[in-house]
Amino acid sequence: MENFIASNPTTVHFGKGVVSDLGKVSKEIGKKALMMYGSGSVLKNGSYDQTKEQLLLNNIEIVEYNGIKSNPIVENVIEAANLGIKNDVDFIVAIGGGSVIDSAKITSIAIADSVDPWLIMKNRHKPVNAIPLIAVLTLAATGTEMNPVAVLQNHETGEKIGFGNPLMFPRHSFLDPEFTTSVPASYTAYGIVDLIAHSLEAFFGSGDATLSDRFVESIIKEAFEYGPELMANLNDYELRAKIMWAATNALNGLTVYGRKSGDWGVHSIGHVLSLLYDTPHGASLSIVYPAWLKYMKTRIPERIEKLGEHLYGIKDIDKTILQLENFFSKLGSPTRLSDINIDSGKRDAILQQLHKNKASGQAQLLDNESREKILALMF
Ligand code: NZQ
Ligand code: ZN
Repeated sequence: MENFIASNPTTVHFGKGVVSDLGKVSKEIGKKALMMYGSGSVLKNGSYDQTKEQLLLNNIEIVEYNGIKSNPIVENVIEAANLGIKNDVDFIVAIGGGSVIDSAKITSIAIADSVDPWLIMKNRHKPVNAIPLIAVLTLAATGTEMNPVAVLQNHETGEKIGFGNPLMFPRHSFLDPEFTTSVPASYTAYGIVDLIAHSLEAFFGSGDATLSDRFVESIIKEAFEYGPELMANLNDYELRAKIMWAATNALNGLTVYGRKSGDWGVHSIGHVLSLLYDTPHGASLSIVYPAWLKYMKTRIPERIEKLGEHLYGIKDIDKTILQLENFFSKLGSPTRLSDINIDSGKRDAILQQLHKNKASGQAQLLDNESREKILALMF
C-alpha cells in the first residue's frame, strides 16, 4: 500500500427533502449568492424552486447565471466569474449535474483570486482562495459533488481537461434522489456507465490496495444489480437513491486510498470524443472502455483476470470484457463509434486530436501506436 492522506471536507446531505436545510446552512456562509445552473432542466424538477425559496426565506440576495452547457466550456465560466465579481457575491449555489458543478468550482476560484479561469485549468495560476460552493445535485454520474475536481473544454485551444485542488471541494452538497427522477433514460444510462468507469479507472491505477479493490467491486456490483432495474423504472426513488450514492462513492477518494493514482487513460480518450463531437461523457466511456480493455489484454492480463474474478467470479478475460460491453449496451449506452454515427472516415481526425492532446493513462501510458490500436477497436 502507498502512503496516503484521507480527507474529505464536503458535508453531504442525502435523501428526500434535504434541501429544506439549505437556507440554514447558507446563512452561516454569506449574504449574497451566485446561483448557477444549466439550460433549464432544474426549473422543471423542483430543485431550482426549492433552492431559491430557501435562499429567499433566509434573506439571501441572489444573482443568477444560467446557460451552462453540457460538456461545459470555459467561456461560460468567464462570464459567471465576471458576474460574481461585479456583484460582489459571497458564495455560489450550483444546481445541476457535473457540468454545472464543475463550472461553479472553477468560478469559485476565479472570483476569489480574480483570475482568468483557463489559467487555473492549465496550472498557470496557483489557487490562493475560493469562495464557498454549495452544490445541489440533479444527476447521478460524476462524483463531482464530493470531490475537488473540475473538467472544462476550451475549443480555442482544442482541449478538454481536468483540474483538481482541495479548495474546490463543495462546502455542502445536497443530494435528493427525487431530483434525479426527471433525468431521461439516456443520461441515466450514461451516469451508470460513468460511475462504473470511475471505479475501473481506480482499479487499473498503480499501486496495490486490496481494500480499494473490494470497494470497487461493491460499487460496480451495486450498478450491475440496480442499474438495469432503474432503467426499467426511471421514477423509482429507492433505485435512484442507490445509484446516486454509488456514483458519489465511485469518485470521492474511497477507491484510490492506498494507490499511487487511478489510471484515467479511458477518460483521456473519451474527452477527445466529447471535444470533437460533443459526445455525452458517459457515452464516450462505454465506447472507449471495451476497446481499452481489449488492447490491454496482453499488457495487463493478470489485472483484467482479477477484475473478472471480482465482478463475475470468472478468470476468462475475453468473457469479462464481453460481459461488461454487453452490460453497457443493454443499459442503452453506445459501445461502438458507429452507434453515435461516427464512421471510419473520421478516423484520422480523431487520431490526430488524440496524439495532439497526448491522450494517456497515468499507470498505463499510451503512445501513438497504442492510441491508434485502441481507436481501431472502437469502430
Ligand atoms: O443543462 P441542464 O438543464 O442542466 O440539463 C442537463 C444536461 O442536458 C441534464 N440534466 C441534469 N439534471 C437533470 C437533467 N435533465 C433532467 N432532469 C434532471 N434532473 O442532463 C444533461 C447532462 O448534464 P451534465 O451536467 O452535462 O452531465 P454529467 O453530470 O454527466 O456531467 C458531465 C460533465 O462532468 C465531467 C464530464 O467530463 C462532463 O464534462 N466530469 C466531471 C468529473 C468530476 N468533476 O469529478 C469526473 C467525470 O469523470 C467527468 O469527467
Ligand atoms: Zn467520468
